[in-house]
Amino acid sequence: MRAELHGHEVALVLDLAANLPLVLGDRVQLQQVVLNLVMNAIEAMAGVTDRPRELRIGSARPDRDHVTVTVQDTGVGIDESESMLDRLFTAFFTTKPGGMGMGLSISRSIIEAHGGWLSAAANLPHGAIFQFSLAIDSGVADVVQVARVSDAAP
Ligand SMILES: Nc1ncnc2c1ncn2[C@@H]1O[C@H](COP(=O)(O)OP(=O)(O)O)[C@@H](O)[C@H]1O
Ligand SMILES: [Mg+2]
Repeated sequence: MRAELHGHEVALVLDLAANLPLVLGDRVQLQQVVLNLVMNAIEAMAGVTDRPRELRIGSARPDRDHVTVTVQDTGVGIDESESMLDRLFTAFFTTKPGGMGMGLSISRSIIEAHGGWLSAAANLPHGAIFQFSLAIDSGVADVVQVARVSDAAP
């Protein structure tokens, strides 16, 4: 999506944790979630001219069993009242002319099908933060461990 970011004059800041464990999931579906969140961020910043348009993508491991991915922008922002936060994730809710309003609904379904959560919050002073979690699969960790051991064998 670098071309898309470049075209919209959005600066990308990556804040990725090192050595995260693997998660078990559908690669294409998870890419779709990130794509939706990044496109929404770009669209939210499209009209911003009085401050930097900055997209931050971060990954972290807040506890032993989860990893999180955060997509943060400096766009128009969101109304943080509880009813509004729920509406964002409702199918066909859109504030864009020509918007479908399906992206966040589908993204939340995908993440929940992976045993995680997807949430939204205001990014102060400007913009929005979307974050999702994924459970670390201890079974996968074991498989990787086995693979590493066998890699090392002569
Ligand atoms: N990063 C964001 N900043 C501000 N508002 C957002 C952001 N992402 C989503 N929204 C709001 O949530 C609505 C629903 O998003 P989405 O489900 O992706 O549908 P669409 O992008 O087609 O409108 C958007 O129309 C917009 O009002
Ligand atoms: Mg969208």
